[in-house]
Amino acid sequence: TQTLTILGLESSCDDTAAAVVRQTAGDAAAILSSVVVGQVDLHAGFGGVVPEIAARAHAEKIDLCVEQALQKAALTLTDIDAIAVTSGPGLIGGVLSGVMCAKGLSAGSGKPLIGVNHLAGHALTPRLTDEAAFPYLMLLVSGGHCQFLIAKGVDDFTRLGGTIDDAPGEAFDKTAKLLGLPQPGGPAVEAEAHKGDAKRFPLPRPLLDRPGCDMSFSGLKTALLRTRDKLVAEHGGLRQQDRADLCASFQTAVSDVLAEKTRRALTLYQELNPAQPTLAVAGGVAANQQLRAVLETVCADNNTSFTAPPLALCTDNAAMIAWAGLEQFRAGHRDDLTLSARPRWPL
Ligand code: KG4
Ligand code: ZN
Repeated sequence: TQTLTILGLESSCDDTAAAVVRQTAGDAAAILSSVVVGQVDLHAGFGGVVPEIAARAHAEKIDLCVEQALQKAALTLTDIDAIAVTSGPGLIGGVLSGVMCAKGLSAGSGKPLIGVNHLAGHALTPRLTDEAAFPYLMLLVSGGHCQFLIAKGVDDFTRLGGTIDDAPGEAFDKTAKLLGLPQPGGPAVEAEAHKGDAKRFPLPRPLLDRPGCDMSFSGLKTALLRTRDKLVAEHGGLRQQDRADLCASFQTAVSDVLAEKTRRALTLYQELNPAQPTLAVAGGVAANQQLRAVLETVCADNNTSFTAPPLALCTDNAAMIAWAGLEQFRAGHRDDLTLSARPRWPL
């Protein structure tokens, strides 16, 4: 049984992160350290992530993250077996910061380098937290992504469907912006939704009339905008209860769509894998309690086990990259200093 200790780097969106993960083959993995430096404050006034600002912040913070991750794990580079880095997909400036840093560390220490797909990082997290066995069905829902995958191996994923426009997290963020709530929008909208009546505004459930598990969330935002403008015109502003009811109606519409599409994805999955299925969910939106509850119900109704990583491992982090790197390293993956950043890289 071989013990592997992997340093992971992540900088593909608006979190700069480094982590160390260790596993002895056959045992559960341990996260020795996980450092995440967010950029929410830097982008606050802009209503979204500004790529230029993100790139600069990653370049400034990545070295510090690596240093802290090693320090917290009480290790030096000498103790590391390989360096894993997100090499795509994502904002090119950020991905480059991580890749350049990892290459420098690799060149300086002679340690092997592994370029990891960010989505594979999210998709392999259930194996880090719950030792999920292949295959399993994965719902990835974040600010940038929304897709159903069958995870069959450390580098073997089949996409069953996904959003054709916005990701749900993006819809939450835009909803927050429309309703004058702070960013990131997900937690703010969820808090408002608690106080609201989800039945008050009949918002659309896009693409439910079509077969398959593709989704669309941009129409929801347009409907919400129209409803908001009508309320503002009637009352001269958005009243507190209107805002809460809009949030509740929106959140329920998103949950309904994801629930129905999950049912379909499970049917498709079971046609390919007759054994008892597992659904894993990850990505920032997986933090949403209503969504989790709805998905748990869908799973219970379909004799499916449900697993969701703890919140800190649902949102962007480097432990998932170190872990994916570890699994891929065991499978023989190696990159060299020609590793390049890939802004687009479908699984
Ligand atoms: O995975 P993540 O940290 O970053 C990527 O997009 O890759 O996800 C961030 C997204 C944001 O859009 C945020 O609004 C959303 O996840 N989010 C939530 C909640 N917490 C975060 N959406 C709904 N409900 C939440 N509680
Ligand atoms: Zn992500």
